[in-house]
Amino acid sequence: MEQDKLHNILNKTEFTKEDIVFLLSQTGEGRTRLFKKANAVKQEIVGQKVYFRGLIEFSNICSKDCFYCGIRKSNTHVSRYVVTDEEILYAAKYAYENDYASLVLQSGEISSPAFVDRVDRLLKEIKKISNGKLGITLSCGEQSPETYQRWFASGAHRYLLRIETSSPKLFYKIHPKDETHDYIRRLKALKDLRLAGYQVGSGVMIGLPFQKLEDLADDILFLKTLDVDMCGMGPYLEHEETPLFQYKDELWPKEERFDMALKMVAVLRLVMPDINIAAATALQAIDPAGREKAVTLGANVIMPNLTPTAYREEYRLYENKPCLDEDAEQCKNCLEARIHLAGDEIGYGEWGDSKHFKKRKQKDEQSSQN
Ligand code: 5AD
Ligand code: FES
Repeated sequence: MEQDKLHNILNKTEFTKEDIVFLLSQTGEGRTRLFKKANAVKQEIVGQKVYFRGLIEFSNICSKDCFYCGIRKSNTHVSRYVVTDEEILYAAKYAYENDYASLVLQSGEISSPAFVDRVDRLLKEIKKISNGKLGITLSCGEQSPETYQRWFASGAHRYLLRIETSSPKLFYKIHPKDETHDYIRRLKALKDLRLAGYQVGSGVMIGLPFQKLEDLADDILFLKTLDVDMCGMGPYLEHEETPLFQYKDELWPKEERFDMALKMVAVLRLVMPDINIAAATALQAIDPAGREKAVTLGANVIMPNLTPTAYREEYRLYENKPCLDEDAEQCKNCLEARIHLAGDEIGYGEWGDSKHFKKRKQKDEQSSQN
């Protein structure tokens, strides 16, 4: 009976909250079937390739004070850094020469005119040194619509901004309640990004204190309603120097957070078959094979770290962050081997844009012609 129910749900194309809760609750054989189905859908709809996005964490200076994050403004134990232009361009060149095809520039959230100008200048430089060929994803938090438009015009074409949790109630438990940590403001930023023309990525953390299975099911439905082109989501990991650390004894065990993160990836692949889903680095903080496990059940993007090693220690959002000592070359070789082990190929030299985005663009163009 339960088996039939699972079979029916796995073959649906539209999912209710109840369906999603049922899928996320699977263990044993049911869990294996969910993972198999998600992998089959991935292979059929987005193919067997995994795309690399070289990640540069170019500054840990942050104006925000999120309760979960190790580089929050109030953490005085972090020494703040800015990667120099020269080092960023060197990493970009490495990515270009190694056929990564795309970069992710990520930083703490700063909105000063100097910061906005600098990112703008870097975007233009990176485009220049790669003959316009490197794709650039930004992950620099909430900015004004003008800033988003300006960066888009200078060459960024994808943007990652996680909602962190779709539950407003939970959102305010993991963020200070003030003007800069505002759920509605974050939603607006996600809309602004879409209007500016970006491929938009969002995501959540899994296993947060107070989070319930129903919240996670709502997160999946939220991403569907938001119509995201990309998603990155991973397990929440406690960090000693943050306020949420006080709830460490109430969390699901790490293995459960990890397992739930895998199930979330698999379910999202079923619910949104044509989006790009990243295998979050946080998965590897729990299980050394975490990222490639995600690749075997739905993820199709991996972000090898290109941040110069000297800075990596200080971009510790959570405990046990992997690859702190490995340089760009080591991460490349390591991930290559891991992806091949997972049975997939790497889409070297290809942007690997979200199919979902391409389809929605086509739809927009058709409707504007009619
Ligand atoms: N555990 C897991 N993920 C975290 N992030 C920040 N802090 C943590 C943590 N303690 C994630 C957030 C953010 C992304 C850059 O890193 O989801 O959007
Ligand atoms: Fe960095 Fe494996 S990915 S060492």
